[in-house]
Amino acid sequence: MTTTHPPIIDYEGSRYRTDFWEGRGREYEDLAERYALRRLLPPSGEVLIEAGAGFGRLADLYQGYRRVVLVDYSFSLLQEARQRWGDDPRFLFVAASLYDLPFTDHSAAALVMVRVMHHLHSPALALREIGRVLHTQGAFLLEYANKRHLKAILRYLAGRQAWSPFALPPYEFVRLNYDFHPAWMQAELRQAGFTVEQELAISHFRLPLFKRVASPQRLAALDALLSRPAAALKLSPSIMTRCRLSKPEGSASGLFRCPACAGVHLLAGPRGFTCADCAAQWPLIEGVYDFRLPVSRETAPTAS
Ligand SMILES: C[S@@+](CC[C@H](N)C(=O)[O-])C[C@H]1O[C@@H](n2cnc3c(N)ncnc32)[C@H](O)[C@@H]1O
Ligand SMILES: [Zn+2]
Repeated sequence: MTTTHPPIIDYEGSRYRTDFWEGRGREYEDLAERYALRRLLPPSGEVLIEAGAGFGRLADLYQGYRRVVLVDYSFSLLQEARQRWGDDPRFLFVAASLYDLPFTDHSAAALVMVRVMHHLHSPALALREIGRVLHTQGAFLLEYANKRHLKAILRYLAGRQAWSPFALPPYEFVRLNYDFHPAWMQAELRQAGFTVEQELAISHFRLPLFKRVASPQRLAALDALLSRPAAALKLSPSIMTRCRLSKPEGSASGLFRCPACAGVHLLAGPRGFTCADCAAQWPLIEGVYDFRLPVSRETAPTAS
């Protein structure tokens, strides 16, 4: 449980699926992320949590997991996810903040977070929570936006961009939208107890010029070929990593815990959970467990 509640970007009611993905010329980016996830994600396991899962765009990649938990602060996006995946009994839909995950310690074999880190005001707090819920041998699949990509470097050197892609601190280009220096992110991960096992540099061809001359499938296949050797340079706008945690062995007691008091005695009822320790109510609304603590939500998303 965290005591501070950083602001969260507000995707409630957003048309993220149709405004950003479907028919928006981003098939290549979607494919590039899928190639990378397929490569890095352990193929099977007990519980997989996707943090900031949105409308469940990537959920078809989790076939090998016995329980798939899609978490997001946006209730409306989870409703869309539920429309797509609600018939599959392996899936759970959980509205919660990833700063206060409503899961017990050691509960997840894998945790995936794609296109979310770049919205986080407090990465260190989020990494601490993720480390808490991951199993000792658990895998953390993290995608983050790279500030030191080739286009930013060229623009900076040509004097067409004021901010330096070489400076370590995150660059907030729009409120609650950050790009990260790979060395800064690696240091944050280390600080939170993670070891970076593998890195892939992805989405090299995220430019209209490339998209005009080759199909998304071709670009994504070429990107996949490049992604491992190019990880040494990290000149792409997106980096996918697989991290492991160094922490003592432990076992989970159930899946859910109360995000208000961290108690693990949750009494299940037809309308949700009641915490036996602090009496907080966590309702089940239209198939979505609502474990959201009140936080300040800010700004409509502009870039994702
Ligand atoms: C750009 S979307 C990415 C969605 C999905 N991962 C994908 O790649 O299609 C970012 C998502 O992160 C969620 N998000 C941002 N900050 C969050 C937080 N602190 N806790 C939970 N969800 C958060 C947003 O609600 C939104 O659905
Ligand atoms: Zn409680």
